[in-house]
Amino acid sequence: MPPTAILPFPIAQVRAQFPALQRLHRGLPAAYFDGPGGTQVAGGCIEAMADYMRKGGANLHGQFPSSVETEAHIQAAREAMADLLNVPPREIAFGANTTTLALAVARAVGRSWKPGDEIVVTELDHRGNVDPWITQAQDKGATVRWIKVDTTTCTLALDDLDSIINPRTVFVAVGLASNAVGTVNDVARVAARAKAVGALVAVDAVQAVPHISVDRDALGADLLFCSAYKFFGPHLGVVTVRAELMERLPVYKLAPAPAFIPDRLETGTQNHEALAGIPAAVGFIASLGAGATRRERILSGYEQIEAHENGLITRMREALAAQPRITVYQAPPAVRKTPTLAFTVAGLAPEAVCRSLVEEQAVFVASGDFYASTLADILGINPAGWVRAGLSPYNTDEEADRFIEGVGQLLR
Ligand SMILES: Cc1ncc(COP(=O)(O)O)c(C=O)c1O
Repeated sequence: MPPTAILPFPIAQVRAQFPALQRLHRGLPAAYFDGPGGTQVAGGCIEAMADYMRKGGANLHGQFPSSVETEAHIQAAREAMADLLNVPPREIAFGANTTTLALAVARAVGRSWKPGDEIVVTELDHRGNVDPWITQAQDKGATVRWIKVDTTTCTLALDDLDSIINPRTVFVAVGLASNAVGTVNDVARVAARAKAVGALVAVDAVQAVPHISVDRDALGADLLFCSAYKFFGPHLGVVTVRAELMERLPVYKLAPAPAFIPDRLETGTQNHEALAGIPAAVGFIASLGAGATRRERILSGYEQIEAHENGLITRMREALAAQPRITVYQAPPAVRKTPTLAFTVAGLAPEAVCRSLVEEQAVFVASGDFYASTLADILGINPAGWVRAGLSPYNTDEEADRFIEGVGQLLR
């Protein structure tokens, strides 16, 4: 599909879709720069969730309308996620959040791991895409190997990929985008090496899906995770697994989980009201694009989102770079990044920087290591961590100005 023209971003219409943007703090409109922690929820999604509960929710398999409707909502949620990740709907399963789903999948995928097997994780990843796998490896006596981070570029050091992923490797977990520094990793390269040795690949796309288009199979992933609360939806985790793999994953068979896919990964009763909101969360991204199918509109919507966010983040990066007391931890310009900035200010605790931005400018930012704790430890910025500012499509030029002004104020 040819790229769509980048149109003037319809910021007013976008903002009108997010009721939380009405919030004031100290008389100023809240500027939510905490998207990497969780975005605000699209109004259509809030309505769909409330509507589900208002009209009468139900459990499955009932011979009455609210039960039948609940099953339809779940199917619609699978279809929306399928379009978002370019996979068939029957390869989408839901759960509480990415970490909890990954732990359940790790218990299954790693049942056969044994001493001598190797699993690979990375130093750049959120621990939600590390600990489920290494915990299972420890339980099974398998060896854990780490893809290192190049601390000068905040990118994965892939030069020795062929020795880290080797014929003993059975499983590789890699993030698509860093939740701290925003680096977009060359996942396709890592996955190709994993395939060459017959290892499975899990991709954490939690921080990618809010900003850039994702195609599970183009990345070479066998499993791919994301969380709807990071992309304008409710607190819900999503995993897509190739059908052939999902069929044979030895998940624990509890009675309250069907034997068939994708439901076999969904133990107990799901969060039906959150599921009812999923099509509208995906719909928000699609609403920014053009095309005959939802997938086409999603792809073109992402182009608009990326262009808008890149415009704002470039200004913010330049402003921070002009301040000698500020260190921004980021990949070089040529490396693709999500609009997430992690920085420190010499002589000021990250928490104090956040408090000042919040109280002086109503710029909502947080500090810490955000569970990118391996990276933070290696960079030596723990225990205080970074200040993290991340953009969402509803952020504006005026908010970026306020952020820049707030940082300048701190340093004056
Ligand atoms: C990159 C990344 N992976 C995994 C997670 C964990 O997601 P969840 O909170 O849905 O378990 C997060 C959460 O911030 C994240 O940013």
